[in-house]
Amino acid sequence: MRMRKKPWARDMIQSREDCVIASPEELKGTWKSLGYEHVIVEIGAGKGDYWINMGNMHPEELWVAVEKSVDAAGIALKKSIDRTKANMKFIVGDAALISQWFAEGEVERIHLNFSDPWPKKHHTKRRLTYSSFLNDYRSILMPGGKIVMKTDNSKLFEFSLVSFAENGWLLREAYVNYRETAHDEDAITEYESNFIALNQPIYRAVWEVVK
Ligand SMILES: C[S@@+](CC[C@H](N)C(=O)[O-])C[C@H]1O[C@@H](n2cnc3c(N)ncnc32)[C@H](O)[C@@H]1O
Repeated sequence: MRMRKKPWARDMIQSREDCVIASPEELKGTWKSLGYEHVIVEIGAGKGDYWINMGNMHPEELWVAVEKSVDAAGIALKKSIDRTKANMKFIVGDAALISQWFAEGEVERIHLNFSDPWPKKHHTKRRLTYSSFLNDYRSILMPGGKIVMKTDNSKLFEFSLVSFAENGWLLREAYVNYRETAHDEDAITEYESNFIALNQPIYRAVWEVVK
């Protein structure tokens, strides 16, 4: 669903110099110099709930959110004003550019949390698990690096399982009802809790890169 325009979003993004990285290409190859051994990237952070929760739960990891919609980014940055720790950074931009921002092997883990499903066939290339994205992820991940995906959408999940397999990734974990058992290490956003309340299964998989 298209989001209503937020005329204040650009100002909000500009005002959040504490966490917004305006020129991420300047940090390429030096993200760890911000003081963290573990560089984690969430692609498609939307209104920021997962990034805010996970960044707060894991202060020992650098959590970098990537979001291409200025309006969604504005909401995320407004919502996080009082909940942004030093380990939380935000890039407003298209993940298609990700290899311009991170160097070869610089990232330990990428999260795709409830990505847009893009159900129409002519939008296949926009899915964040399409092969062109997987190639970029492969280059920025360290050896042994992982992608963690969670979704309510069975069609996107199936597409992703095939896409990763065809591109030579190792499937390390797969769940067709992730919330059947407790997983306290992984944040449940309001969006996800709505699905859980409706008894809809949450799909989750973890793939390891082969370099
Ligand atoms: C459903 S929201 C994600 C919610 C969020 N991850 C969470 O769990 O709270 C999906 C977001 O992905 C963003 N997105 C889709 N394609 C993208 C791309 N190529 N680069 C960056 N963001 C993208 C969309 O703009 C949208 O805000």
